Amino acid sequence: MKPCADLIVTNISSLLTLSGPERPRSGVEMSNLGIIPNAAMAISGDTVIWTGPVQKLAGAVDRHSATLTIDAENHAVLPGFVECHTHLVFGGTREDEFARKIAGVPYMQIAAEGGGIKRTVRDTRAASEADLMETGLQRIREALRLGITAIEIKSGYGLNMETERKILTVARQLAEQTPATLVTTFLGAHEIPVDRSREEYLDEVCEKMIPFVAREKLAEFCDVFCEKGVFSLDESERVLTTGIHYGLKPKIHADQLTPGGGAELASRMHAVSADHLDYTGPAGMKALADAGVVGVLLPGAVFFLGLNRFPAARDMIAANVPIALSTDFNPGSCMSLNIHLMMTIACTRCRMTIPETLTAVTHNAACAIDRQNRLGSLVPGKQADFVILDCPSVETIPYHFGHNHVKHVFCKGRSIVENGIVLPFQTP
Ligand code: NIG
Ligand code: FE
Repeated sequence: MKPCADLIVTNISSLLTLSGPERPRSGVEMSNLGIIPNAAMAISGDTVIWTGPVQKLAGAVDRHSATLTIDAENHAVLPGFVECHTHLVFGGTREDEFARKIAGVPYMQIAAEGGGIKRTVRDTRAASEADLMETGLQRIREALRLGITAIEIKSGYGLNMETERKILTVARQLAEQTPATLVTTFLGAHEIPVDRSREEYLDEVCEKMIPFVAREKLAEFCDVFCEKGVFSLDESERVLTTGIHYGLKPKIHADQLTPGGGAELASRMHAVSADHLDYTGPAGMKALADAGVVGVLLPGAVFFLGLNRFPAARDMIAANVPIALSTDFNPGSCMSLNIHLMMTIACTRCRMTIPETLTAVTHNAACAIDRQNRLGSLVPGKQADFVILDCPSVETIPYHFGHNHVKHVFCKGRSIVENGIVLPFQTP
């Protein structure tokens, strides 16, 4: 018996299925997008049930009286983008710091003067849950308009129990009130708060916050900013080990501003992902590849901070590190959710190919949040999160940059963005 579709998308110029192994993809695997030309796709409920050439649709799928058919008008269709590294819930913004950075003041100096993360911590502590919900909803609408259908959200602008809890609670509420798939990460170890000593705060993170976050199921992952002047390798290991003990899967901000052995630590901890990697050298790359840790590159942060040390993506791909790409959306180092722009920067500054960037923002990004069983590809059994572009070729996305080529977006088989307009969210 043929499967019966609730929704059929037909007349697709090029369907990027991203079919292939479910594990993180590395090396030449990143160039294989599983493209079906002149394609159709069938969906039942929230799940893809069939993809193939248009001519085979009628023979493969049944319809019922209410089956909806959408004409993609000979445009390209691809999986919804998976945004696997954001700090999306925070109070305030930092335009003035951007102006100082342009004038040549280093990021670490601004941080040392009480700006940077500490400034956003003050603003986030002062913000009400309702304020954070309002800006969070605006940001998720913006993400959806760009075709981002899954988002990882980190805490880390609270640096005390009360505000870390507030951020993660808001993220959980956003997950209930929006159609996007959201996952949360506890990043209490993002900075040392001004009102605690290093030892006191690390003890608080490990002895109070992580157990609380795990018990209340506020996060699935635990992250740490492993960086000179922030958390050392040993301190980072303590945080991640404690997280693992309480069932939180490890992630790490590694080798962002200096080389520090963060990639090697990620591999020893069997982290789900190691993120930034701007200074990671050959030994770190080999360690990541051997352990199958996804390297999440965030070239928008390098670009926005006006730095020149972009991650060595070509060397990483040659070393078989599976690469994902993300914005790092945050008020300090990348105030943009534009994942399309990150693809362009990855192409021009990291010399990634267009197919590699597409794997990096779909399947490999899903692996970086441990959701590859449902997200990041359009093959039978996967969640029907997809984007219909306004053009026949996906290559137009990084090429015609600064323009949003996303026309329609579907989350779990439901229309969320129509002709570039985000529809009102239906409450569950
Ligand atoms: O990922 N690396 C640490 N945290 C952020 C920057 C945070 C900020 O400046 O507010 C990042 O780049
Ligand atoms: Fe980050």
